[in-house]
Amino acid sequence: MSAASPLADPPAAPRLLAFAGSLRSGSYNRRLIPVLVEGARAAGAQVTHIELRDYSLPIYDGDIEAEGLPDNARRLQALMAEHDGLLISTPEYNGSMPALVKNTLDWISRPLGDGRSGTSLFTDKVAGIVSASPGPLGGMRSLLVLRDALAKLGLIVVPQQVAVGQAGEKLLDYGQLGDERAREAVHRVGAAVVRHLHVYNPSIAGARA
Ligand SMILES: Cc1cc2nc3c(=O)[nH]c(=O)nc-3n(C[C@H](O)[C@H](O)[C@H](O)COP(=O)(O)O)c2cc1C
Repeated sequence: MSAASPLADPPAAPRLLAFAGSLRSGSYNRRLIPVLVEGARAAGAQVTHIELRDYSLPIYDGDIEAEGLPDNARRLQALMAEHDGLLISTPEYNGSMPALVKNTLDWISRPLGDGRSGTSLFTDKVAGIVSASPGPLGGMRSLLVLRDALAKLGLIVVPQQVAVGQAGEKLLDYGQLGDERAREAVHRVGAAVVRHLHVYNPSIAGARA
């Protein structure tokens, strides 16, 4: 039998980059992100789950950038180039996203080594976002701000999102969300990212910059 035409090849599995927007060891968002990853993987995604602690960066400073983009910013840009979208679990700080999350996105958005805009790394990619907080609203306001920032960067943020409130009672361990309805809802966010990618980028592999 002759080799299948490239047009007949099944689309490659979407590749997603996942991180929590908190560094602390007992972070509820670090406990929650594996649940989102699980949902995306169950829907067929290949997920690279990173810890931002391993990509430590200074607060964005044009003087630092003028001396050369920090290695960790280049590493994050390289990761972003290899992936079709983002999965983020974010805390809420004073009604907004933490500086850690914004700073990470800001560094990635800086010009690439070849002079192209760093924002091109985000264009037409897809994101799924969740949050966790000990408060009753679960960090809902941070999701609104993060959604806006990601859209500004050119990402399509899926409409599904989950804010897990009373996180201290529900997220007792890493990847363990002790609220069945919330767990299913977080899984649906991951599945929605995969679904959106198949719709917007039918040839996922070809869409990687
Ligand atoms: C500077 C600061 C501001 C905060 N503001 C909010 C807030 O606006 N809303 C909220 O629900 N929780 C707020 N919190 C509490 C966080 O939700 C809580 O510390 C949470 O555990 C942080 O996420 P993590 O567990 O993933 O580290 C704030 C915490 C800090 C340190």
